Amino acid sequence: MSFSLCCKTALVTGAGRGIGRTIAGKLAAAGAKVMVNDLDEAALCETEENLRKSGYKVDHATGDLTDPATPDKLVQATLETFGSVDIIVNNAGYSWDGVIQKTTDEQFLAMLEIHLMTPFRILRAASSYIRETSKAETAAGKRVMRKVVNITSIAGTDGNPGQVGYSSGKAGVIGLTKTLAKEWGRYNVNVNAVGFGLINTRLTQPLTSGEAHMEMHDHEIKLGVQPAMLESVKHACPLGRLGTPEEAAGAVLFFCSPLSDYVTGEVLICGGGFHF
Ligand SMILES: NC(=O)c1ccc[n+]([C@@H]2O[C@H](COP(=O)([O-])OP(=O)(O)OC[C@H]3O[C@@H](n4cnc5c(N)ncnc54)[C@H](O)[C@@H]3O)[C@@H](O)[C@H]2O)c1
Repeated sequence: MSFSLCCKTALVTGAGRGIGRTIAGKLAAAGAKVMVNDLDEAALCETEENLRKSGYKVDHATGDLTDPATPDKLVQATLETFGSVDIIVNNAGYSWDGVIQKTTDEQFLAMLEIHLMTPFRILRAASSYIRETSKAETAAGKRVMRKVVNITSIAGTDGNPGQVGYSSGKAGVIGLTKTLAKEWGRYNVNVNAVGFGLINTRLTQPLTSGEAHMEMHDHEIKLGVQPAMLESVKHACPLGRLGTPEEAAGAVLFFCSPLSDYVTGEVLICGGGFHF
């Protein structure tokens, strides 16, 4: 590998499964100490155990990020455990779909809460540490780059019928990304977003299988996409298939690495060339 992340601490949300779990693994393999979060404790502990078995430095902090107190606790836990926070990947997310006439206020707000409000709260919680540490480094004549990667979607950049809340949250986080890139450039923080197309995870299982669901806000939420959409990807996607979590995490790793030290405020689409 042409770079190392040793001496760096990374915080990855939604790391209990799917893309977040794979991102955590790639960061750890590159040498970073990793704090993983998810609301699903069993899945999260499995992620942690797998990484520990490989000899990586990892800890976990279970918590629902849409509880307003969780983002702050998570950042504090990272600082207390590892003494720094250098890479933040705002990955946790889920879809609660519906066309506009069937979308309730609660449903719409839930999508803004996890995809926009949560990254905002986590980054605000980390801002004191980042500003103070960067000022001290600059005073000592050192330039240390830190990294924020927010996860968005082609639903946010292109729009997608049936995802009015999800698309709005994923579009909103691009505004957060671009603004923070401007506010935090002076602190040597690269703030970028990766927008996925269709990646093979729990979120993209065919809806007919009826197995993927999650309990949120006292609702049993079905996860997945219409089988017709999955079929259409074979023709409409230049690469002719869904992406793998490995491929998705590769794009995120680029933004966490020194390879992207002079890239900020950008959105990288990792979707095999597919657009809605
Ligand atoms: N899979 C895709 O095709 C695709 C496409 C575009 C964007 N994305 C985005 O990529 C990210 C990862 O999705 P994935 O496909 O790996 O899904 P996934 O369901 O496999 O994993 C997401 C994880 O986030 C966790 N999570 C959800 N809400 C949480 C909360 N409130 N607090 C803490 N953890 C929470 C879940 O428990 C789950 O373990 C999400 O932001 C998703 O919107 C995925």
